[in-house]
Amino acid sequence: MSDQALGGAQGGRHVGWVFSVHGSRARVALPEPTVGAEDQSQRATVGKLLAIRGRGVTLIGMITEVSVDPETERGGAKAHALAQLDLMGEILTSEGASRFRRGVRDYPAIGDPVEMIGHEELNLIFATGGQRSIRIGQITEAESTPAYVDVDQMLSKHFAIVGSTGVGKSSATTKILNEMTESRKDLRVLMLDVHNEYTQAFGARATAIGAQNLHLPYWLFNFEEITDVIYGGKPAAPEEVEILQELIPVAKGLYASQSSAEGPTIEKRRPRHNGFTADTPSPYQIGDLIQLIDERMGKLENRSSRMNHNRLMMRVDAIRNDPRHQFMFKNAIAGGDTMAQVIGQLFGLETAERQITVLQLASLPDEVVDAVVCVVSRLAFDFALWSDGALPLLLICEEAHRYASSDHHSGFAPARRALKRIAREGRKYGVHLGLVSQRPAEIDPTIVSQCGTFFVMRMTNDNDQALLRSAVSEAAANLLSFVPSLGEREVVAMGEGLPLPTRFIVDTVPQEGLPCSDMGSRGEKQAPGSYQEIVQTAIQRWRNATTSDVRRDRDLAGRPPVARRRVEAPQQNTLAMGLRSLSDGGAAGVSSGTSPLEGGTGGNGYVPLRR
Ligand SMILES: Nc1ncnc2c1ncn2[C@@H]1O[C@H](COP(=O)(O)OP(=O)(O)OP(=O)(O)O)[C@@H](O)[C@H]1O
Ligand SMILES: [Mg+2]
Repeated sequence: MSDQALGGAQGGRHVGWVFSVHGSRARVALPEPTVGAEDQSQRATVGKLLAIRGRGVTLIGMITEVSVDPETERGGAKAHALAQLDLMGEILTSEGASRFRRGVRDYPAIGDPVEMIGHEELNLIFATGGQRSIRIGQITEAESTPAYVDVDQMLSKHFAIVGSTGVGKSSATTKILNEMTESRKDLRVLMLDVHNEYTQAFGARATAIGAQNLHLPYWLFNFEEITDVIYGGKPAAPEEVEILQELIPVAKGLYASQSSAEGPTIEKRRPRHNGFTADTPSPYQIGDLIQLIDERMGKLENRSSRMNHNRLMMRVDAIRNDPRHQFMFKNAIAGGDTMAQVIGQLFGLETAERQITVLQLASLPDEVVDAVVCVVSRLAFDFALWSDGALPLLLICEEAHRYASSDHHSGFAPARRALKRIAREGRKYGVHLGLVSQRPAEIDPTIVSQCGTFFVMRMTNDNDQALLRSAVSEAAANLLSFVPSLGEREVVAMGEGLPLPTRFIVDTVPQEGLPCSDMGSRGEKQAPGSYQEIVQTAIQRWRNATTSDVRRDRDLAGRPPVARRRVEAPQQNTLAMGLRSLSDGGAAGVSSGTSPLEGGTGGNGYVPLRR
């Protein structure tokens, strides 16, 4: 009977009959023990799939509970046990061909025979899909059955890969992205790589962007982002913010009129904002901004207003000289309006083969990671919005709890907002999110709740499990009880990308394709040296990360550099005056005893910000 109903797909061994049905739940009497079954897949245990044979349709349900009920009888035979099933889908047969579909339209009748699901049925459910199905592993309960996920479904509603440290999240991510980019040649992936571990894993598929080649000009920052950078994530002084809001558009207007002027000898037109706002992503000179603040200050009589202007000028100048922010300021205006190039580089639009861009956040100082994540995520959304989703983009957030945190006091507010926006509206514009995290409970709940597909690896924290339970269907939530005891590389997967919630083992990623931290490989290279050498090299790198080019030149040559690094030196007298007043105790946000004008801000070009 089963062969007929399945149009050829074989069922497994007969185990019992339907005993009661309540909504999408059925109880099945199991008259025979299944403990003796040789094949592990034929034992009726929690998490296994059973097939209820109806008329022309086979209902598929997952066992959520098994218990002994010696009172249950049918035709004089004692039931050995009862199994509770969640009905999840059905296999329909027409014209000799079978297909699986999610959801149940036909409910079982009392007495319908029940079988363990067979390999062919498992294949029918998990191993076939649309054109865009990718294989990422094999079903735990039947090793010969591959686990496929539907790429379009997985992307359209975002996805999350979660689990404790070391369980294989990054390796699974690599596997998924390799398969995904193979199947979707139009897809561009931007990976926020917190540990610099993916570049090697993707080989020729990826372009790496790190401290040495990251170029995000300050003028691409919107107003909120630039103020966040200037104030180091701390609340900004409202009077100073007002000045910035007024003068940034003027600086933009000035640049636009300068660049449209016919020659460099033409006198600057008086500042007009030309319709720009502080959010318009168009170039301006940071020197012009400082000069505009200075000019306005010169016309003021009120001492406190003068001080506000002065302080703001100091802050802007300190930030642009801070070596940690050179990715924003260095050559920011050199190529003129380079917005197209920046977007092309970030989203891997320059080459068709390198679909993945790995943004190596570990190579950047902690202080700027917030700004980078924020601007990059916002640019991803805005670009998708203004291009009508013409170029589908997937943003992978490794360690997502770091910059999409549910703790609103932990900083990263603009980054979180940008990611929330993608989570909520990205689908409409072809920008998708993939979260990878050890601590899903620490990710902003709005972002997690928008994820449609979850890959859950071993995880013991109760809060994390509770959060996931609330984000998935009831049937899938039952599978989450396996999560604390999952094996290496084993995943409980559920949601839009899969036909049914299931457990599978991620395919082996070859050694050369495994994510591996750059830091680890650096350590290996240093191994032959003594520990003193290792410490010395580490200290050197450490200092270089927060030292200006000038200081490094001096260190290398053993003498001071001939030229000062700063080219634009606006209003030196006023600046010096301001610095004096700040070091007298008036500074908020700039450490005392440092002077950007001394060509070295305290000797090394580094102005520490109070954060
Ligand atoms: N699919 C896989 N194929 C081959 N090896 C794997 C696979 N998954 C995990 N491993 C092994 O387990 C190790 C840890 O995996 P991985 O780095 O992916 O874990 P993780 O969950 O990302 O850890 P962390 O939270 O520390 O980032 C890998 O270095 C690799 O040796
Ligand atoms: Mg990892």
